[in-house]
Amino acid sequence: QRGDYAHFMEKEIFEQPAALENTMRGRFAADGSTTQFGGLNLSADELRQVDRLLLCACGTAWHACLVAKHLIERFAGLPVEVDYASEFRYRNAPLSPRTLCVVMSQSGETIDTLAALREAQRKGHRVLAITNVVGSTIAREADGGIYQHAGPEIGVASTKAFTSQLLVGAMLALHLARLRSLSFNDGADYVAALRAVPQLVRQALEQAPHIAQIAARYVQAADMLFLGRLALFPIALEGALKLKEISYIHAEGYPAAELKHGPIALISEACPSVFFVTRGELFSKVLSSMQEVKARRGKIIAICTTGLELPADLADEVIRIPDCHEAVLPIVATIPVQLLSYYMARELGCDVDKPRNLAKSVTVE
Ligand code: F6R
Repeated sequence: QRGDYAHFMEKEIFEQPAALENTMRGRFAADGSTTQFGGLNLSADELRQVDRLLLCACGTAWHACLVAKHLIERFAGLPVEVDYASEFRYRNAPLSPRTLCVVMSQSGETIDTLAALREAQRKGHRVLAITNVVGSTIAREADGGIYQHAGPEIGVASTKAFTSQLLVGAMLALHLARLRSLSFNDGADYVAALRAVPQLVRQALEQAPHIAQIAARYVQAADMLFLGRLALFPIALEGALKLKEISYIHAEGYPAAELKHGPIALISEACPSVFFVTRGELFSKVLSSMQEVKARRGKIIAICTTGLELPADLADEVIRIPDCHEAVLPIVATIPVQLLSYYMARELGCDVDKPRNLAKSVTVE
């Protein structure tokens, strides 16, 4: 039931603090420095033998895999490859024997992801599945896995299932990292950051009325660019996908520095850009990408962590999100792009829960 919400998508966006709470329940080890999972069916020793990961998925789940890759490489030091399930199944990917394959599918029924799982198993690999639907085909055929426990998702555009996939990816990265070189203290900080996620998401959701006003000012856009760096590049892709799916406004996501290699040709008053701006070594680089847009009269919506000063007149709109640990920032940064697409689509009178041409689970090739 939708209750007081206009659409299931809106309800599911606002349910995210609770969904994320459920994803984490019972999954912290007693020592407070790592995560634990009941269904991996791999011992700690077997996990230490893994020297590479292959993550396969489609659509939104593929974006979640890109974030997981960033965190696993950064914290566990393991090389990770991410593939579209539909491509993996047909290309002859050489997999070394110690590669661990992981497929990610909210529904657990996506045919391409299921085919990728079977292909990896055929080649002798154990495959873990990250799914939201208990007893789904992918969950049953996998050799082990992690359930998202985000609750049923009705809206066709994935919201709470996506953030819970991001969270599972972050939790898996910590688990792998603590079996390798990550220190107890860094593990404990990471755990504290994970535990804070529902509250951080609640804070990000408080921007909803502000974002609704911004959305109303940009519905005439013909195209839109979403730009982010490192772990926020996949969130830029996700923002663009969400906007396309439900509002039919053409949008693309890029790493901000790629602007000058082509997409900058699109910049005009009719093509606003959404930038993720966070502290760190790339802050000044992102600012210079914003200046390139501004110089071409492009409008800028900045999604910016609290405490960062932006030069006056650089951004036309600023949406604040709480500053937080790198492992959870992608989750928090997703909230404003979900809300922005939702309110833009609503403003345009689109059928948000049932966008044209889309189905909730894609069981045809
Ligand atoms: C977009 C969306 C799709 C799905 C994709 C994979 O909002 O929902 O891109 O993410 O079809 O679905 P699952 O995760 O069920 O395999």
